[in-house]
Amino acid sequence: MNLSDRLIAQFHQSSVSATIRKTPGVSAMAGRWWLRVQTEKFRAAMSTLSPPQVPASVEIPVGLVNVPAVADAVMKMPPYILAGEEFSDEMAEWCPTTSKFISITRVPGSLGYQDIYAPVLGHLRQRGAVRILEVGMGVNDPAAASGMGSDYIPGSSLMGWSHYFEGSEVHGADIDERCLIDTEWYSTHKVDQRDPASLGTLASLVNAPLDLIVDDGLHTPEANGNTVAALLPLLSPSGVMVVEDILPEFDALWEGLGEWLDGHYEVSYFPSRHLRHNRSPGGGIAIITRRA
Ligand SMILES: C[S@@+](CC[C@H](N)C(=O)[O-])C[C@H]1O[C@@H](n2cnc3c(N)ncnc32)[C@H](O)[C@@H]1O
Repeated sequence: MNLSDRLIAQFHQSSVSATIRKTPGVSAMAGRWWLRVQTEKFRAAMSTLSPPQVPASVEIPVGLVNVPAVADAVMKMPPYILAGEEFSDEMAEWCPTTSKFISITRVPGSLGYQDIYAPVLGHLRQRGAVRILEVGMGVNDPAAASGMGSDYIPGSSLMGWSHYFEGSEVHGADIDERCLIDTEWYSTHKVDQRDPASLGTLASLVNAPLDLIVDDGLHTPEANGNTVAALLPLLSPSGVMVVEDILPEFDALWEGLGEWLDGHYEVSYFPSRHLRHNRSPGGGIAIITRRA
């Protein structure tokens, strides 16, 4: 690992970045450097994206994905919010410690993650056996990179998926071995999103094609780019990949993602300025769908 990679590994949500942030001049310089390197790494990873592995001719008993456009969702707020409430209540029964599904949508004038998830995932429920992979299971250690609070139950969102999609096959992957415990609802795998080879191994271990892929791991553009490049080709026709908690500094990357994807996919990006979050700082959410 070269010096730049070592610094990058230390810079995101670590004690090193916390120390740097306290020194204004250094912090501004380091911040600019980090944004530039992350943007380059994202672009480099996306340039390796290959076409879908699963032929479009595979028969999937399902209608087309109905992803709301931002303007649409904002204009039609009440219906989205009602669907989001239902989705969130149902998920909360199984994964009460997963903040992305906690219902906060009744505050007027903004959208939550559940309002985006509900219309996007509703169609997948019509499939018989849905296959799901979420990267980032949630370790209950606030000091770990992208770690959760100490009352969090690792694998909480996987429990939610497993119950929301009856008969589904659910995989979870994480860098932190403390959360890699298989259960009767899901199986777990080790992965480091900063390492394309590690993601390649993960891709070979899960049972493709996948109908839903969620990236809720490290949340850096480098990690996101590697994850999209390695896993998107595993998506089934009209399957969905969701990338959560995208920092506003990188909105432009995601708003322009279409240019990196070939005609097989569509992207809808909801920047954090359109969303209301129940945590800070919160981030945008990208929905990538594969055309049927
Ligand atoms: C936000 S938590 C996931 C929360 C969970 N998906 C949920 O909805 O409740 C992020 C997880 O990403 C994992 N993570 C951090 N860096 C990673 C990396 N380089 N590769 C894979 N996972 C990583 C952390 O160990 C942590 O468990």
